[in-house]
This record gives sequence, C-alpha cells and structure tokens, in this order.
Amino acid sequence: MKKILTSLAIVGACFLLTACGSKKEEDKLAGIKASGVLKVGTSAEFAPFEFHTLVAGEDKIVGADIDLAQAIADKLGVKLKIEDMEFNAVLATLKEGKVDLGIAGISATPTRQKSFDFSTNYYNPPQKVVINKKNAANYNSIASLKGKKIGAQKGSIQEDVVKNQMKDPQIVSVAKVPNLILEVKQGSIDALVVEETVGASYIAQNPELQFATIDLKSSDDEAYAIAMQKGSQNLKKEINKIIQELMDSGEIEKYVKENTAIANKTTKK
Ligand code: ARG
Repeated sequence: MKKILTSLAIVGACFLLTACGSKKEEDKLAGIKASGVLKVGTSAEFAPFEFHTLVAGEDKIVGADIDLAQAIADKLGVKLKIEDMEFNAVLATLKEGKVDLGIAGISATPTRQKSFDFSTNYYNPPQKVVINKKNAANYNSIASLKGKKIGAQKGSIQEDVVKNQMKDPQIVSVAKVPNLILEVKQGSIDALVVEETVGASYIAQNPELQFATIDLKSSDDEAYAIAMQKGSQNLKKEINKIIQELMDSGEIEKYVKENTAIANKTTKK
C-alpha cells in the first residue's frame, strides 16, 4: 500500500511539474510579444556573424546573426534589442533570463542541449586552423603543431577541439576572436582554431594570415543554432518556422555573404 501511495505521489508530482512547465512555455513567446521587445544576447567580435562596424561614423553592431535576429523580431512584430557581451557570458546571461535568445554562432552541442533549448541548425562551418603565412611550410600537420601554443576563444567549443584534436597543446584561451587573430599575427601564439567562415573573414582582413593545410574533424553537433531557456516550447516552434523560411528562401546564405563583404571593408580592428 505504502508503495502504491509513493508511486501515486510521484505520478502526481510529475503531472504538476509538467503542467507548470507548459504554462511557463506559453508565457515565453507571449511574454516577448507583450513586452514589445526581443532581447538577444550576442558577442560582437565574430565577423561575419556579429561584429562592430562604423556606419556613417557611428559604431554599430551588424552581422548575419544580427540580420537573423532582426528578421525574427520583425516576424514577431517586436523591436530588437541587442545585448553585447563576452561570448563566455552569453549562455549564462540567457540562463538568468536577462535575454530572450542567444544568437552568437552558438554550436548546439549535446552538452549545451542539456541546459538549453536550441532551434534547428542554421549554419554549419567546419573547424579550421589559422596560422601566420610565414609558418606555412612548418605548420602543415597536427604533428607539426605538437606542444605549440594554440589559441581558442574562451568558453567556445574550439577549446575542446584544441584539447581533443591537437597533440599536447599549450592551449591559450582568449575572450575575443580579434585578439586571438592579433596574437597569431604577432607570433605570441602559433595557431588558433576557429570556424571556417569566421577565419576566412579575418584572413581577408589580415593578409599575413592563412588557413593551415590541416584537416580537423568537424561534426553536425557543432552547427549553429539559436539558444533559448529550457522549456521554451512555443517560442522554439515559432523560431524554427522562421528559420526554415529564411533557409528555404536562401536568405541566411545572403546574410552571410553581405556581411562578409561589410566586414572586409569596414571592421574595426
Ligand atoms: N561556435 C562556437 C561555439 O559555440 C564559437 C562561437 C563564438 N561566437 C561568438 N560570437 N564569438 O562555441
């Protein structure tokens, strides 16, 4: 009897939890619409997805992710508010509920999926190694970078790529990608790992740099998706619908192309 009562209590508790959960889910999308503002957390040092540029003499945050965020805000009929912070803080800030979405080229890894809801993937660039051109002949294999100083953005999956795929690396974690780029240029680190589209953009702006001819393993788990708080069922459905439309119409690809061109011309270094 006691056993039956316990299981009834457990079933009851689960039921209550689910009910509470779905009520909160209702509120997330409705809450954004009611507030009239979509708050998006990003880290604008990651061209062409999010970066600072001068538009008519004024500092502005632009990028493919920002265009995506704007398209979502427009479709929801609300204003867009971009909150710029270090990449390392984006998911934590989302967890605290201080922003509604994290859009920052965030890879929807299984580990992150445990703590956050993610939209469908909208982009999937492979992992690449960036080096100084003058080292191109030496740094041409994983073995050639054994024990070297390899940079990765703090809090990014590239830290794991370095740890798991490089040989005895001295990993150097840095908050901002442009600073990593500078370090490779100056020679204070030997190489850095970054996703291809982003690496290509900074290489275009820094002719001293190039991709190394090294193949890293990349996976679908590393594709970019929009992060939401856990239990964002309704919001997620709506966002997935919007992403699907933007992918089908080729809009996302267009955002990346256009912003790559902007970054090559005007990014502040
Ligand atoms: N895709 C990588 C990750 O999720 C790097 C993202 C960095 N994004 C940025 N805006 N700096 O860990």
